[in-house]
This record gives sequence, C-alpha cells and structure tokens, in this order.
Amino acid sequence: LSTMSSKAYVQPLVESTSVFKDGLFNGKVLFCTGGGSGICKEMTRAMMRHGANVAIVGRKFDRLVQSAEDLSKDTGRECLPVQADVRQPKALQEAVAKTIDKFGRIDFVICGAAGNFLAPISGLSENAFRTVIEIDTLGTYHTIKATLPHVRKTKGSYIHVSATLHYKGTPYQVHVSAAKAAVDATSAVLAVEEGPNGIRSNVIAPGPIGGTEGMDRLGTKGVDGDQRIPAGRFGDKRDIANTAVFLFSDAASFITGQVIVVDGGAEHLRTTQ
Ligand code: HXC
Repeated sequence: LSTMSSKAYVQPLVESTSVFKDGLFNGKVLFCTGGGSGICKEMTRAMMRHGANVAIVGRKFDRLVQSAEDLSKDTGRECLPVQADVRQPKALQEAVAKTIDKFGRIDFVICGAAGNFLAPISGLSENAFRTVIEIDTLGTYHTIKATLPHVRKTKGSYIHVSATLHYKGTPYQVHVSAAKAAVDATSAVLAVEEGPNGIRSNVIAPGPIGGTEGMDRLGTKGVDGDQRIPAGRFGDKRDIANTAVFLFSDAASFITGQVIVVDGGAEHLRTTQ
C-alpha cells in the first residue's frame, strides 16, 4: 500500500491521458451488485468515468446513496442506488425493473456482492457456510437470471468478481473457496450458452488488493504481504477497475469464458523456504 503512488493511478481514469478512450461507454448502462463499496465501487467509478450510467445494488441503502452521490459528483454520470439482497431473487428482479425504468437498458453486469470471514471447517456452522454460498454463488445466479433478458437485447457482457484462494487449499476459507469455484464455473457456462446470443462472460480474480474489506477480514492488515508479491506491492482497487474497463470494451470482444487473474504475479510465486 505504501509503495504505490495513488496519483499515478488516479490520472489514467480521470483525464484524457487515459489509455482508454473517454466516452468509451457513452449511452451504456452498468448494473453492479456490491457497487456501494470496495472493489466494485471502484469498478463502477471507472465505468462512469468512461461514460456509463450505473445502478449500484446492495443491502445497505444509506451507504449506497452516499456512494451514488460521490460517484456522480466525481464523474458527471448518473448513479442509481438500489437496495436489494442478492439472496432474494424477487428483490433482484425489482432492482432490475428500477434500472430499466430509469435507464431503459442494461449493457453490462458486474456480479460482485460477496461475504467473507475467517473460520476453520471444524468451527464453521452449517448456516455460516450456507450464508456465503447464498451470497456469492446463488447471488451470482440470481443476478444472471434477473438481468439476462435485458443483456440479450444489448448483446452485453458480464464480469464476475471471484478470487484466487480456491486454486489451492486456503485455510479458514472453505466457504469462500467453494463459493468462488462455483462462480468461476457458472461464468464459463454462461459464456458458452450465451455466446451465440452475442453475450460475453468473464471472471476477474483479484489477488491481495489493499484497502478492501476482504483483505482486512483476512487479517492481512499491517503484514508485509507485499514482500511476497512479484510486482512488489499490494494491488490497488483501480487495478481491478482498469481490468473491468478493458473486459467490457470492444478490445476484449474475443475474450469470453476466461478467468483473468489480477494479482501482481502472486499466484506464480514459489519460495524455497
Ligand atoms: C464464524 C461467522 C462469522 C465469523 C458470521 N458467521 N461471521 N462464523 N466466524 N467471523 C456466521 C454466523 O454466526 C451465522 O451462523 C452465519 O455466519 C450468518 O451470519 P449473519 O451475521 O447472520 O449473516 P449476515 O448478516 O447475512 O452477514 C453475512 C456475512 C457478512 C457474510 C457474515 O458479515 C458479510 O457479508 N460480510 C462480508 C463483507 C465482505 O467482506 N465483503 C468482501 C468479500 S471479499 P450461525 O450458525 O451462528 O447462525 C471476498 C474475496 C476474498 O469474498 C479474497 C481476498 C483475497
């Protein structure tokens, strides 16, 4: 966190020096679950900075309203806050209806709402395991089901926010590992089934990203984790946002069914110790 210059990250997204075209997503609409905070809020900001209007969906309405104001002020685009729990299919259908009422279309979807905490299998209750599966996996399924008819009309694109922890046996993360493995699989099936309808579906798998609730909850605060990342630093939320802009853009029109790992090379590191 300390090793990176935040200025170097802010500029590409705000000013015309961006590697991406200004107005890339003019007239387009993003529907983002989990968009009220963290990585998904930053992805939303990047999409808005490139022209999209957005609906952000989450459980905490006050936080959504505040985030929507912040995002609109920052980008000059419209942001609609919509309260819904991704575990409730009906609530998601209503959220989609509100988005269509307001903006008339949905081009892009980010399935980002997620739950996480540390617990060993032996100490994890059935309800705790189910809760994370319901938020991450069923939440993704419900979001796809509610949005798909609209995304078919626009020949749009999905991004699912996953993780890298399920590639190996990450202790205290059985619930999240199981849930994210299912998310990866769901995205692949969506890509294959809906490809002929012009729809793309990809996964972004963030590695350790600084300043996020996920990192805080995994107890990495203050630990020198950046020493173990080949890139020499923790990720920044804007690293994930840039990846989303690329994947939603036409530059990625032949990329679907993929998992894009954004982790500074951490997945490939082997130590001799
Ligand atoms: C053990 C826990 C627990 C904990 C909750 N539970 N926290 N068990 N250790 N720390 C158990 C509860 O006891 C209960 O089981 C069950 O889980 C449901 O908890 P509730 O609090 O009733 O559920 P709810 O209010 O719906 O909250 C869901 C939540 C929530 C997941 C627990 O705190 C949440 O959504 N927070 C996550 C926000 C977050 O971190 N988002 C970023 C995710 S990052 P019992 O048996 O008692 O009824 C990510 C990627 C990580 O996913 C990768 C990073 C590298």
